[in-house]
Amino acid sequence: MDTKILAREEEIRRGAEEAGQGHLFAWWPELDLAQRANLLEQIDSIDFPLLQTLIEGLVLHPFPEDAAALEPAPIIPVPRTDIEKREHRIARERGEALLRDGKVAPLVVAGGQGTRLGFQGPKGAFPVGPLTNKCLFAFFAERILAARRRYGPAFPWIIMTSPANDAATRDFFAENDFFGLGPDGVHFFVQGTMPAVDKQGKILLASRHKIARSPDGHGGTLRALDRSRLLDLLASRGIEEISYFQVDNVLAKVLDPVFIGYHASAGAEMSSKVVRKTYPQEKVGIIGLRNGRLGVIEYSDLDEKDMEARGPDGGLKYWAGNIAMHMIHVAFVRRLHEAGIRLPFHRADKKVPFLDNEGRHIEPEHPNAIKFESFIFDALGYANNPVTLEVRREEEFSPLKNATGANSPETARRDLMELFASWLHDAGVKVPRDKEGSLAVKLEISPLYALDREEAMRKIPPGLSIAGDLLLQ
Ligand code: UD1
Repeated sequence: MDTKILAREEEIRRGAEEAGQGHLFAWWPELDLAQRANLLEQIDSIDFPLLQTLIEGLVLHPFPEDAAALEPAPIIPVPRTDIEKREHRIARERGEALLRDGKVAPLVVAGGQGTRLGFQGPKGAFPVGPLTNKCLFAFFAERILAARRRYGPAFPWIIMTSPANDAATRDFFAENDFFGLGPDGVHFFVQGTMPAVDKQGKILLASRHKIARSPDGHGGTLRALDRSRLLDLLASRGIEEISYFQVDNVLAKVLDPVFIGYHASAGAEMSSKVVRKTYPQEKVGIIGLRNGRLGVIEYSDLDEKDMEARGPDGGLKYWAGNIAMHMIHVAFVRRLHEAGIRLPFHRADKKVPFLDNEGRHIEPEHPNAIKFESFIFDALGYANNPVTLEVRREEEFSPLKNATGANSPETARRDLMELFASWLHDAGVKVPRDKEGSLAVKLEISPLYALDREEAMRKIPPGLSIAGDLLLQ
């Protein structure tokens, strides 16, 4: 323990008091030297001017967000016409060339706390394989391995963790032999954190010498990439594009040549994929134009009128649900840093355990705290030539968010199996179903057997008959 910081006690204490956070020293007389040093380090790392601005603008006197004029965004549709299909083919070829040249690296954000799922451990370790119980990380790793085999380059996998799950995530990868990617094939980096405050803007203490902190949102990816020098690593390997996805999407196409191709051909700095919302209240953000700039409007911020609004065809006017898959040009990340652009913070009301004034540890039953998070998609507003691509939900989007019901382990496994069933069907195989139309057997296809529909159709023997559960690997 470096106790040199103790010499700066007075200065650090003054800074906290001036920022209205003097209560952080409430238990000072009871702390030993190591605890004091530790607390001082935590307080010293707080950007008080930034925090004060956030407390003022988001907690004490929140300003209603200006009702920016919202318009649907231009979107490249799922191809239906011959011309659209041709454009898709061209995009795919462009993307495949970039993959062969090793210009793309996959990046997953896995720093979230997964509170809604209620799973102990990193969310990526959650078992979802219908027959193998393979976890989310393993599915993604196999998609990367399959892309290696198909295109050649190693595609270093970049994984963002948070202080709360970094060690557990690294250990999990080591225990699982890096899922075949090798220790050099995976690069971890840790996102930043922000102090959590109560409704009066006071920083919460998790214990007598520990500040309650929480991950600073996936917008922290951009800052943390730079801080961890991973941008330099990418540059040294000639990697120009990041293929960004969320750890919760079991169907994420990790390196999609079509998406890469559209993004690169447009000279886009950042691009996004969307699916059609299934009903107005579905909990996905929508991609739209606010005052002419592309952005995501979170489901909680979309007003009722816009949520229900219909377009000329009678469908939802704002149907473009954000599935949080982006292509990000590496030079764009640098450009934002060099221009000193910081993504804005948003307020999230959450339950945060804390130490009360009497020193009791409280586990709140209702949201008691405000966390500050920035969102990666706020970078869209700064990006030149952004592309938005519509994809089919049943092929690319099934997020694991909740323990039961919608977006749960049950729906993730079902959606995986339905995708495999459709590949089998297209390969000429009869898939057994019950009277209600649900699958009568369990199905699982490893990405190493077939990465996509085309490969599945080439490999699956058309005469294959399914008598029971089917595992192709
Ligand atoms: C998110 C999107 C929403 C989109 C939906 C699709 C936000 C604010 N909204 O909603 O527009 O339609 O996904 O599934 O993101 N994460 C971190 N660090 C953090 C916070 C989150 O790495 O500090 C990661 C999580 O591990 C997860 C992802 O970001 O992979 C999404 O976070 P989550 O809070 O679950 O977002 P949603 O509200 O579900």
